[in-house]
Amino acid sequence: MIMMMKGSKVIHILFYFIGLYCMKITLICAVPCMDSEQQALLKLKEGFKSASDSLSSWTAKEDCCKWRGVGCDNATGHVTILDLHSQDPFNILQGEISHSLLDLRYLRYLDLSHNNFHQIQIPEYIGSLQYIEYLNLSNANFRGTVPNNLGNLSHLESLDLTGNGFSLRVENLNWLYHLSSLKVLKLGGVDLSNAEGWLDAVNMLPSLVELRLFFCKLHKLYQNLHYVNFTSLKFLDLSYNNFSSTIPDWLSEIGHSVVYLNLSKCQLQSMIPDAFGNLTSLISLDLSENNLEGPIPLTLSLFNKSSSLRELYLSNNRLNGSLVQSLAQLSQLVALDVAGNDLEGNITEAHLIKFSSLQVLVLSSNRLVLNVSSSWIPPFQLETLDLRSCLVGPKFPHWLRSQKNLSSIDISNATIADVVPDWFWNFSSKVKYMNLSSNELEGYVPDFSSQLQLSQLDLGNNSFRGPLPRFSANLRILILADNIFSGPISHLCGILSINNSLSYLDLSSNFISGEIPDCWQYGHNLVILNFAYNNLSGQIPNSIGQLINLITLRLDYNILSGEVPSSLKNCIDLRVLGLSNNRLLGDVLAWIGENLQNLMILELRSNAFTGRIPKLLCQLKNLRILDLASNNLSGTIPHCAYAGMNSLGGTGTLSIIYYPYTTYSVGVILRVKSSEHFCRGLICAYNSQIDLSSNNLTGMIPEEVTSLVGLLSLNLSRNHLVGPIPPNIGEMTELESLDLSRNHLSCTIPASMINMTFLEVFNVSYNNLSGEIPNFGQFSTFMNSSYIENPQLCGSPLLKICSIDESFGDPHCNNENGDEENQGIQKEEQDGFEIPSFYLSMGLGFITGFWVFWGSLLLNRSWRHTYIRFLDNMNDKIYVMVAVGATKLRRKFQSQQPLEVKGRQ
Ligand SMILES: *[C@@H]1O[C@H](CO)[C@@H](O)[C@H](O)[C@H]1NC(C)=O
Ligand SMILES: *[C@@H]1O[C@H](CO)[C@@H](O)[C@H](O)[C@H]1NC(C)=O
Ligand SMILES: *[C@@H]1O[C@H](CO)[C@@H](O)[C@H](O)[C@H]1NC(C)=O
Ligand SMILES: *[C@@H]1O[C@H](CO)[C@@H](O)[C@H](O)[C@H]1NC(C)=O
Ligand SMILES: *[C@@H]1O[C@H](CO)[C@@H](O)[C@H](O)[C@H]1NC(C)=O
Ligand SMILES: *[C@@H]1O[C@H](CO)[C@@H](O)[C@H](O)[C@H]1NC(C)=O
Ligand SMILES: *[C@@H]1O[C@H](CO)[C@@H](O)[C@H](O)[C@H]1NC(C)=O
Ligand SMILES: *[C@@H]1O[C@H](CO)[C@@H](O)[C@H](O)[C@H]1NC(C)=O
Repeated sequence: MIMMMKGSKVIHILFYFIGLYCMKITLICAVPCMDSEQQALLKLKEGFKSASDSLSSWTAKEDCCKWRGVGCDNATGHVTILDLHSQDPFNILQGEISHSLLDLRYLRYLDLSHNNFHQIQIPEYIGSLQYIEYLNLSNANFRGTVPNNLGNLSHLESLDLTGNGFSLRVENLNWLYHLSSLKVLKLGGVDLSNAEGWLDAVNMLPSLVELRLFFCKLHKLYQNLHYVNFTSLKFLDLSYNNFSSTIPDWLSEIGHSVVYLNLSKCQLQSMIPDAFGNLTSLISLDLSENNLEGPIPLTLSLFNKSSSLRELYLSNNRLNGSLVQSLAQLSQLVALDVAGNDLEGNITEAHLIKFSSLQVLVLSSNRLVLNVSSSWIPPFQLETLDLRSCLVGPKFPHWLRSQKNLSSIDISNATIADVVPDWFWNFSSKVKYMNLSSNELEGYVPDFSSQLQLSQLDLGNNSFRGPLPRFSANLRILILADNIFSGPISHLCGILSINNSLSYLDLSSNFISGEIPDCWQYGHNLVILNFAYNNLSGQIPNSIGQLINLITLRLDYNILSGEVPSSLKNCIDLRVLGLSNNRLLGDVLAWIGENLQNLMILELRSNAFTGRIPKLLCQLKNLRILDLASNNLSGTIPHCAYAGMNSLGGTGTLSIIYYPYTTYSVGVILRVKSSEHFCRGLICAYNSQIDLSSNNLTGMIPEEVTSLVGLLSLNLSRNHLVGPIPPNIGEMTELESLDLSRNHLSCTIPASMINMTFLEVFNVSYNNLSGEIPNFGQFSTFMNSSYIENPQLCGSPLLKICSIDESFGDPHCNNENGDEENQGIQKEEQDGFEIPSFYLSMGLGFITGFWVFWGSLLLNRSWRHTYIRFLDNMNDKIYVMVAVGATKLRRKFQSQQPLEVKGRQ
């Protein structure tokens, strides 16, 4: 041992002298890269299929120590550093990681992060690189089991496997026991569900400073730990796991070192322990999005004495009690977020007087009153203020005038009924996010075009008036829905210049008139365009087809006329197309089915569309709402399975694109139960429906319709349909409303309908049905107007009593659907069906690497700001990812800024 040490010292001293000597004649003497290692690197390069030539400097001519990403030991010339993480999505490494990596025996630093290795396994031989100190394989799309022999890397100080998705698993963490030098361990997004003893394993790491196990499918947070070993721990992130337990005591015992503790989104229950007051080093505490209840413990006041805590995030729990009481203890905070709890209190100037450092104040969605005088000048300068659904009004909060640093402000739904003062509109050029929606604000909105920072503006659901305000091309989200804006919008064209950022434009429910401008050629960022419920006239302009990223287009309830330009074919991402209640005509369905295959909602009601319903419409596999009522469609109803509505099974797992602010933006108008009601968010979530009423359809009701087991409402009334009601209609067990009135249907009411226990509306009046009305179950609730004008129908509630013959209906009528030619098709369509592609891609996105996922699947940057929430019962990862806010998560997977001040943006 001593001999060896001596030996290496001698060598070091030797190199030291060589080094000194070399400093004089550096160029000649710099130790060049080893030949064998150069060869190894070139082999490695061969294995990579580099999208573009990020490894172009790797050529045999050049000394490999000078290659990009390669670092050598000055003295020995051995390659010790290989940093191949990619910095942009168009320049990533793919392909295989050659075995020749092993020839780089002295490698200490290996970073392959942010590449895409297409679901290969982490090569086992990495565990043989015995000198490795830093290993970063994050966001690189690896799958499979993490090799246990990483436990051989006894020099390892930092290991990062974050963001490879749940397809990367760790069976147990016992191999950690050997890694006594480990300081940083990041396994975010790695599936640790089998790693039962994870806590014991990490507890053996005395040097551990940073531990991040967020989104690891951990399900057990041990309540007892006999001895807390990780005394060096500073950063602990266990967020996004499903612990369903209380906060264990041992967490408060690590309190003398931990500065950052994140337990958000962990299903934690019960109260915040008083012992949290012992966490005296803590700077940032995040317990948001759990099921914590009870008051904010007053022991947190201990923090006050040591004054270390700067950030406290408690949002979206069930905390109750008085916030005011706790406030007194928290005045040293920089960030306070208690949104979405059940806290109450009347916050006055006195409560806030000591908060001189405060920058982030988020109080939204509690039962809080902010009661300050109009002359109040707060001690703080906020950057983020969120008072949504607090009681702030009725007067406009004049103290805002003192806030010079605001970049995000939300005073929506705050019971403010006032004219917005002039100073407010130009008081801050720093504001990026402004939400004043759902108040009773009045007045004219000024020209925003010089507010270059402003990125999101929501004035929806107020009483603002005047012409559509001008705004800058940097604005991404503009919501002016539900106001009194009027006049033409042709000046939009001035904003939609080449570099505009507009991604979400909602002007619905105003008094806008004139034509839709024809200048959408630079609308490539637009994802949502909503002009519904206005007075727009003229034709839909052709350039609208250039909105190739559009997901929602709503032009319903205007007075638009002419044909729908077929350029709309290009908008292949469209999921919601609403053109109802206009004066549009033409054979629009002919090309919709073929081109707009992602449609979930198609509403063309009350226009003058003609033509047949093409079979191509059956290909819309995600379709949930098909409303073609009150047009002039002719021909038969195609035989197809309408696979989309059927696909997700009986309970109907419709997912609606949900926009929070305004009724019409939600995008769906339900006509279930014969009454027209609007659907807000969740209420819609399980509805799928077909309305083809009031057209000119002929032929029989195709039997395939009955395979739509998730359907809630079917309306085929007021057509010319003939033949029987499909005998197996009873398979549509979710159906709540079935209207077949005013057709020429014959034969009996099928006995299978006994299964339709949810049926609330049933109407077969004005047909040619015969036989006895069933008298069981839900049938007893239907009135006689459901059956009138069927001369051969008998039994209660009709007055006509059935004779013995009549009970069985027309003997010539066997209720068989005569048309058999298309029965094969139904089968095919069903079999070929899978999870809707959108969700599939979302899911896959999660699994695949960072760039693949965030780069392409979130479409573009505008996505994360569109507040789109998908409500479904697909698995948690997708739900969580989208609902919680993709931005937040994305940030998590990319990097952590331990002391970042959370705000909007
Ligand atoms: C080479 O040596 C110099 C001086 O000792 C040091 O600053 C530098 O970081 C070394 N470079 C590498 C790649 O090890
Ligand atoms: C604490 O860590 C040391 C060193 O890793 C280990 O030997 C010891 O068993 C650990 N103690 C407990 C109780 O885990
Ligand atoms: C606001 O405070 C004043 C006294 O300071 C009180 O009279 C008033 O009722 C309070 N308003 C609300 C809404 O609590
Ligand atoms: C149905 O079609 C016929 C002829 O094709 C036409 O005369 C009639 O007006 C149409 N009915 C409706 C409601 O459009
Ligand atoms: C319906 O379309 C038919 C031709 O398909 C046409 O003759 C008729 O006038 C249209 N009816 C209405 C009300 O537009
Ligand atoms: C009604 O059905 C009967 C057979 O049940 C048939 O004879 C008759 O022609 C039909 N009437 C009409 C108007 O379709
Ligand atoms: C059934 O439809 C007819 C005609 O379409 C209508 O008059 C009647 O009120 C409806 N009855 C029920 C219960 O909806
Ligand atoms: C790993 O690499 C990613 C991206 O290159 C970086 O954000 C992250 O901080 C690195 N991990 C560690 C532990 O240094």
